[in-house]
Parts: sequence; structure tokens; C-alpha cells
Amino acid sequence: MLSDETQLLSVLYSYKGEYLSERFLSEYLNVSPEVVKKYAENLKNEGYSVESSPDYGFRLNSYKNILTKKEVSKGLQTRQFGRKLLHFFEVTSTNRIAHQIASQFEGTHGTVVVAESQTGGKGRMGRRWFSPRGGLWFSLILQPTISPSNVHRLTHIAGIAVAKTIQRYGINARIKWPNDVLIRGKKVCGILTEVNTKPDSVVNVVIGIGINANINISTLPDELQNGAISLMEELGERIDRTHLFRETLLELEETYRRFEKDAPHIMDEWKNLSDTIGREVIIQSPSERIEGKAIGISASGALIVRTHNATIKRVFAGDCLYTEVH
Ligand code: BTN
Repeated sequence: MLSDETQLLSVLYSYKGEYLSERFLSEYLNVSPEVVKKYAENLKNEGYSVESSPDYGFRLNSYKNILTKKEVSKGLQTRQFGRKLLHFFEVTSTNRIAHQIASQFEGTHGTVVVAESQTGGKGRMGRRWFSPRGGLWFSLILQPTISPSNVHRLTHIAGIAVAKTIQRYGINARIKWPNDVLIRGKKVCGILTEVNTKPDSVVNVVIGIGINANINISTLPDELQNGAISLMEELGERIDRTHLFRETLLELEETYRRFEKDAPHIMDEWKNLSDTIGREVIIQSPSERIEGKAIGISASGALIVRTHNATIKRVFAGDCLYTEVH
């Protein structure tokens, strides 16, 4: 069941170009005409091209800002990534849908699932990912021919690609280990990589990417507001999500290709974009807490930390806290 506003967007979308009367919409959504007006206004403020007419009602006069295959594929320069694209107005989690697709169909390498909003967005370490309309929430399916021990390298591809894409907007985006993309120390993008393996092979990988594109940070839960930032707030204007999506897919595909040719080199790219290397950190990994200085990233994708008693630790997953302010 979609939320009311998303449902309004979706019904206007299915009648694209045609006016739907306020009365029809009010009955369809089971809310008063005033509420229909309010929903339409909200959607307009979010950048959807909803038009209202006192005589005819409401219509959507273009697909602009809706991440459908039709919109996104115009001008998409990738060969494979996003060529198969599934768009939803609302899902629980694009990662979840991507897993279902990957397990049911053959040849899904490069398939992308995108949603305008998620009701059960998944974050790392079992956390929830807040995903209202206005963000860019999508998942990419990969079927790489690599061994499970090398899969950590893959997760870095997404961080590199997103940071580079954001840098094209003139913003100094950096990567915080393991894979948060930051602007001025605040998180603009989170990445959740989920792997489906057999004992000696990788069956498929789902890389979920959430970018705070046109998000008003004050609408996030209180505890998230301090550490988060959106592209809209950084740039002072709403950004074209369709363009951002296409550019991110292209950068992902190109980074993946470089990875296929020369995987260890990808770690150098990550190092150059890293915000973490050189910092004093506390890493809470699933099995231990490590305190020390982040001194590098290994060829297989582990963060290298020199602890205070000069032991060298390598860690693949966990949360990272900076212990000094730069
Ligand atoms: C993090 O905790 O930093 C990772 C957040 C990943 C969020 C994205 S949004 C698209 C995809 N679908 C999900 O449910 N999660 C990822």
C-alpha cells in the first residue's frame, strides 16, 4: 500500500498529460478535496511537474524528475548498467527487490532497481535507512567472476563512483571508511553491499546506494540531522535527479571496468578520495574494537590500522569513529 502522496503521484503518472478531477482524486484516495490540493502542492514543491487547474483538476505534464526507464534511458551513456531498469514509486527496499530479481532470473548483471521512496530502507549493521521522496535510492545487481575473499574490493567501487560523480558538481566529496560519502564531514550517501555466495564462488552482489539528493535534512529524524547533508542543501538549489542517476551509473560502470582490468589499482583510487586515512580512529568491527591510526587500505580492501601499541590490524567491516577533529 503506497502512502497517499505517493499514490497521488503514481495515479497522475499513469494518466500522464490528462487532467484528473479533484473529486475523482478525492474519492480515489479517500481524502477531502483540500487534502488532495495539499498533496499536489507538496509534490510540486518536491520538483514533480504537477499542474493544477480550477476547472479540470490536476495532471502531471511531464515525467521530469521521475526516475522511470523512459526518462533515465534518454542520454544514458552506459553499455550495461541500468539498461535493464525497474522503477517503483515505493518499495520496502530496493536491495530486497534486487535480491529477488537476482535469484529468480538469469543474466541480471547490471540490472538496476530504483524507487522514489522506500518504506523499509536498509542501512549497514542492521540499521534503518530513511528514504523519503527526493532522494536517489537504487540497487545495482552484479554477477562478478571473483572469489568470495575478494568481494570487499567491490564495495569500494561504489564509494569511488559516487564521490567522483558528486565532485563533478564542484563539491569536495570524500569517502569515510568503509563507504560513506561525505561533504564537509557530513554524510550525503550511504552504501550497503549484500553478497550471496556459495562456498567458493560469488553468486551475485547487490550494491544499494542511497544519495540524499533533494532532501530537506530537517525532515530526517532528529538523531540523524547533525551528521547528514543533502546535495540540494549544499548547492542551494534542487538538482536534476535523472542527470545525477545517469552520471552515477556511468561512473559505476567505468569504475567497475577499471576494477576488472586492475583490481588492486582501485584501492589507490579509493585512497586518493579517502577522508579516513591519516586519522585517529576507533573501529567497532563485528568482532572487536580497534583504536589507532588509519594508515592505509590493503589490496583486498581492508582498512589498515596501527594501534597504540604498534600492532597492525586489518579490518573489513564495522563502524568508524574519528577521535580528533580536523
Ligand atoms: C548505510 O547505512 O550507510 C547504507 C545505506 C544504504 C541505503 C541504500 S538506499 C538504496 C538501497 N536500498 C536499501 O534498502 N538500502 C540501500
